[in-house]
Amino acid sequence: MNADRLQQLQDQIKKLDSISTAPAILQPLLEILRQPAENVRLEKVVELASYDGAIAAQCLRMANSPLFGTRQIETVKAAIVALGIERMRSMLFGVCVNQVIPKEKWVLDPVTFWRHSLGCALVTQRMAKGIGYPEPDKAYLAGLLHDLGFLVNSILCTADFRKSLERASAQQSALHVCEAEILGFTHCESGQLLCEHWGLPKDLSETARYHHDVSALSSAPPLVCLVHLGDLLCRLCNLGYGYDEIMSVELSRDSAWQPLMTAFPALAAVDLVRFTIDIEGAMDQIVATVDAVFGKSVAAGKS
Ligand SMILES: [Fe+2]
Ligand SMILES: [Fe+2]
Repeated sequence: MNADRLQQLQDQIKKLDSISTAPAILQPLLEILRQPAENVRLEKVVELASYDGAIAAQCLRMANSPLFGTRQIETVKAAIVALGIERMRSMLFGVCVNQVIPKEKWVLDPVTFWRHSLGCALVTQRMAKGIGYPEPDKAYLAGLLHDLGFLVNSILCTADFRKSLERASAQQSALHVCEAEILGFTHCESGQLLCEHWGLPKDLSETARYHHDVSALSSAPPLVCLVHLGDLLCRLCNLGYGYDEIMSVELSRDSAWQPLMTAFPALAAVDLVRFTIDIEGAMDQIVATVDAVFGKSVAAGKS
C-alpha cells in the first residue's frame, strides 16, 4: 500500500469512532480486550453484559444451553462465571461489532464471519495448548481478532470489497489475494491499522498484519504462526469465508511450521490427522455456539 493510501485509510479508521451507531459498550469492551484474561475483573464484565437487556438475555440463554452444562442459571453474574471470561469477551465483542456495522455494509455473511473467527480462536487455542505455548488465552484472542480488517473493508470499501469476494469466490482462490488486486491492500493491513487505532496489544496487531504472510517476517513470532495455521485449518475444514477455496496445503511444509517447531519442538509430536479429526469434532460446538450467541441478532440485522 502506498503512503498516501495508508494515510487516507488511517484517517478513515479514526473517523469510524464517531459514527453514530458505535455502541456505548465499545470503549469499555476494548479496555477489557487490552488486558490478559486473568487480569479482567468479573464485575467489569457483569457491568458490560448488564448494560443492554438483549445482551444479558443472550448470556443467560447461552449459559443455559446444554453445551455448557445442565445447571439452571438465573443471573448474569452466574452466567458469566459458567461461560468464562474468554467466551464472554467473544460474545460481547460479537454483539458489539454486529451493532457497529450497518446491515447493508456486511459483505461477508456475518454468521460465516463469526464462525470463522470463533473457529480460528478455538483451533488456535487447542494447538497452543498442544505444543505447550504459555499463553493459550492470548492465542484464543489473537484467533478471534485476526480478521478484523474484513470489518474495516466492509465499512469503508463496501463495493470493492464485495468485488474482491465475488472474484475470490468465482476463482475459488484466497480472498486476500483478490483484495490486493482490487483494493490495493488487504484485510491484513487494514486490520493492523484498526488494532493500532484501538490500542490493542502489539502482538495482536502483528497477528492481524502477518497471518497470511508469515514469510515476510525474518523471525516469525509463534503467535503469528499459530494463528496462520489455525486460519488454514479452519478454511480446510469448511470454516472459511463462505465459498469453496481450492487449497493445496501441506502443513508441515508451510512457512509457519519451521519457525513454530523451532520455538516449540513439541509440534513435531502433533499427529496432524488426529488433530484435524479433533478440530472436526469441535465443529458442531463452534457452529452451535455462534448460532446460539450471534444467530438471533445477526438474523435480525439481516432482515
Ligand atoms: Fe485473514
Ligand atoms: Fe481468517
